[in-house]
This record gives sequence, C-alpha cells and structure tokens, in this order.
Amino acid sequence: MHRIDNLLQKRDEALLGGGQKRIDSQHKKRKLTARERIHFLMDEGSFEEIGMLVTHRASDFGLEEEIYPGDGVVTGYGNVNGRLVYVYAQDFTVFGGSLSETHAEKICKIMDLSLKNGAPIIGLNDSGGARIQEGVVSLGGYADIFYRNTLASGVVPQISAIMGPCAGGAVYSPALTDFILMVENTSYMFVTGPNVVKTVTHEEVSAEELGGASTHSSKSGVTHFSCANEIECINNIKKLLSYMPQNCEDDPAILDYEFTDEIRTALDGIVPQNANQPYDIREVIENTIDEGSFFEVHKNFAENIVVGFARIGGRSIGIVANQPAFLAGVLDIHASTKGARFVRFCDSFNIPLLVFEDVPGFLPGTDQEWNGIINHGAKLLYAFCEATVPRITVITRKAYGGAYCVMNSKHIGADMNFAWPTAEIAVMGAKGAAEIIFKKEISSADDQYVKLVEKESQYSEMFANPYRAAERGFVDEVILPNETRIKLIKAFRMLENKSVKNPRKKHGNIPL
Ligand code: COA
Repeated sequence: MHRIDNLLQKRDEALLGGGQKRIDSQHKKRKLTARERIHFLMDEGSFEEIGMLVTHRASDFGLEEEIYPGDGVVTGYGNVNGRLVYVYAQDFTVFGGSLSETHAEKICKIMDLSLKNGAPIIGLNDSGGARIQEGVVSLGGYADIFYRNTLASGVVPQISAIMGPCAGGAVYSPALTDFILMVENTSYMFVTGPNVVKTVTHEEVSAEELGGASTHSSKSGVTHFSCANEIECINNIKKLLSYMPQNCEDDPAILDYEFTDEIRTALDGIVPQNANQPYDIREVIENTIDEGSFFEVHKNFAENIVVGFARIGGRSIGIVANQPAFLAGVLDIHASTKGARFVRFCDSFNIPLLVFEDVPGFLPGTDQEWNGIINHGAKLLYAFCEATVPRITVITRKAYGGAYCVMNSKHIGADMNFAWPTAEIAVMGAKGAAEIIFKKEISSADDQYVKLVEKESQYSEMFANPYRAAERGFVDEVILPNETRIKLIKAFRMLENKSVKNPRKKHGNIPL
C-alpha cells in the first residue's frame, strides 16, 4: 500500500506544478495553466501524459533544493476531434516555464514520436526562455528542438501557440513551425526585449508594442492568428487542424456534403462595371465555397492578398486570392511572401489550391525595389511552379503582366484555368499600353487627349477580355460567375488522383 500511496503522492505533486500560489498568480494574469490548456484542447479523457516525473539534473545556484516533477513542461498525446496529436505545454508556474536540459529532452521525445508516427505536433509556449541557472545545456536543448522542427517541416503539421512570454532563442522554434497563434495582451515574441532595445537603439517601446499579437499579426506577419483570449486560441488550433491531413503521406478528410446550391447567382453582381472600382474578393470566396467554411490565415497582414482554408463540396482546399479592395490587389513584398508560404504549406500536405486572380501587377517604387521585390516576388512564383497538388485558377478581372504568369497561370503548371467574362488578360492596362505603343501617333495628333482615348479604347477592345487567352488555350473555359462553384466542384473531383513528380533533387533553392 505504501508504494501505491507513494506513486499517488508523486502524481499529485506533479499536477500542482510550481504550487498553488503560482497557479493563482497565473490566473490573475488572465492566463490558464499548462494542464488547463491541454484540457481544453484535447477530447475529454484522451490525454496521456509522458514524462510526468522527469526532474532537472542541475545543482548550481541551489537548484538541487528546488525540484518540481515534470520540470516545467507537460508533454503527451491525445485526440483532437478524434484525431491523434502530440502536444507539449510549458508550465509557467515552474521556473517561469524556462527551458532546462530535461525540459528540452521531454519536448524532443514528443517531437520524435510525432515524426515516427506521422501525427501533428502542437506546442503551447509560455516561457521565460533558457533556464538561466543551467547555461549552455539549456541552449543546447533549444538547438535540439530547432533541429527536429526543421526535420519535421513538411512531414507532419506543426502548430505553435504563444500564450505568454517567448523571447530570445525561444522564438525560433515557433518560427520554424507551420502556424503561429498569439493571444492578445498576454503573449509576446521578440529576439531582444524592450530593455535591450532601449540600450542599443534608444527606442522606448513596450513589450506589447514590440512583439505583441497585434504587432506580429499586422506589421511583421510573424503570427498567423491574433486571438482575443486563450480559449479562442485553442479553438482556432482545432479548426486549423480540421483542414489538414495527419502527415505528408495522408490526404485531408473529405466531409459529407449535400449538393443543393451549385448555381450561385450572387456571384454575377460582384465585379463592378468600372474596372478601376474595388470590390471585396472575400465576397467571391464566400459565395463560391461551402457555406461558412472559409478560415482566413494572416488576416491582418498584407491585406492585398487573401489566403486561407475552405471547403468546396466537402473537400479541403487552400485559397490564394488577390484583394482588389486593398491597394487594388497589387502584389508587393509582403503579399508575395505571405502567398508563397501558404502555397508551400498546402502543397506539403496535399491540400489542393484555388486561386482567384484580379491583379494589376507588382507594386512599383524604390521601397519595393530596394527591399528586393524581385527576390520576394520570385518566392510566390517558385512556390506555385513547384506545387504538385491540384491547382485551379479563376480570373475574375485583371491578369496583367508578370503577375499574370505568377498567379498560378497555366504555363507554370495550373491544371484548370477559368476566366469570367469580366477578365482582362494583357501585358498592362489599356491606358499605359496605348501611351507606349502609340506614343508617336498620340504626340503628333492635333488633339492628343482625343487620340489617347481612341487608342486606349482600341487596345482595350482587343485585349481587355479573356478571349485572346481562351483562343490559345491559356484559359480552359470562360464561365459565367454563377457557374463557378459547380465548375470547381467538378474540376477538383476530376483532379482527385493527380500525380505529378518534379525532377529528383536534394532540395530546391527557393530565392530567400
Ligand atoms: N530561468 C530560470 N528561472 C526563470 C526564468 C529563466 N529564464 N525566467 C523566469 N524565471 C522564474 C523567476 O525566477 C520566477 O521564479 P519564482 O516563481 O521562484 O519567483 C518565475 O520564473 C516567474 O518569473 P517572474 O519574473 O516573476 O515573472 P514575470 O511574469 O514577472 O516576468 C519574464 C516574466 C519572462 C519577463 C521574466 O521572468 C524574465 O525576464 N525572465 C528572464 C528572461 C530571459 O532573459 N531569459 C534568458 C534568455 S532566453
């Protein structure tokens, strides 16, 4: 009996983490504990903990007197909506969730299991960084995790939630994973904190301003989701998982779907008559997909491109869409990297791609050129070129210049390209084109303005339509907007068994 009591006592001790006082203090900060977070994430009763009794091995600075079973991280496996996932949750009540040698070993063990068994890994981060008393063994622990994050990249989905501090070297594990979610006002991420910033650059900035959820979801794009609270964050993780397969050899689940509303007349009235007038591409998305299935990623960052998951006929897809309602849908550095990252995720995990195209071109200017729009734009191009999942494009309006090539054109491997009658597929807009190719005629005309208008309309009539491209087969079919949904359902079904292998290589060299 004594031995049983002994075990039960050890378990109880572990469940208390750093003790009730520190748990209360965590709650006062409007934060849940590691175990509470896991409780909300996992299906009831499904969580199995691994390494509950692991303790640190440090003896400097009196650490040998301060031992907490579990050593500041709860690790294990369980189900989310019936599907196996691996999880680790840092426990801020134990040494501020700081990462010791053994804490890192526990995370690595879980990551190894996730990789060997082909199931997603979810990290719930809340940590003061490297365990200061342990020095280099703690840093080594971080590097062991980074190495595994990189090897697991593209093999199993990796999701990181930031639910407290995440600073210094700690930021690089989330950065290597597929998606980062942050909780507003209680989480932050930065390489160096406000104090160091003040010393080095003399900037005065708060932690929230420097690396809070709103900063990283809008300015840097480091985080994909900014969540109002921890429960919203956990629900977003569950939702995100629902669009993904378990690993790169697996396909996303196809949900049952009743086909009742294939013709969507609302789509006929969205693109304005005037080609320079904006409209919200989300209206096109929402009216095409299964009702309410759009889950936008990176919502507040580079709003000139919209990306996210959705379902069409029950099938999980990734959508990449130019957004005419923001900067006229132009492609710039941030939009290109945002799009490229999303395309690569979908391709890694067999999620078909749907592109809605209305793009006037790349954003001109010294800012863009000097910051490398050439390289960054090439990322999006590269990502589409190498994607082997089923790929379909719908051109709703403008498809101009190099951006026409980049946005999943037929030439770079798209499987089906549809265009609406409002499509304009040309090297550039009619006015700019007329000014260049009819320069002499315009400058020698009696009334230069009248001549320009005449030439502009001539160019526009010839090229501001989808028919030249359709004649060449660059567009497979010009369709009515209201037919879009049914055409897509059929085409994605037709492409279900697509099998394409890119040339064998060690790995490609995407322009970084
Ligand atoms: N190593 C060891 N212990 C740490 C730690 C670390 N990196 N970070 C925090 N702790 C401990 C604290 O000593 C404290 O212990 P206690 O409960 O016994 O008093 C506990 O964790 C909570 O920390 P506290 O500072 O009281 O919490 P806070 O919410 O006020 O501040 C931080 C959180 C993360 C801002 C602050 O703890 C901090 O600056 N930590 C150090 C960050 C760092 O420089 N890390 C190393 C390099 S990556």
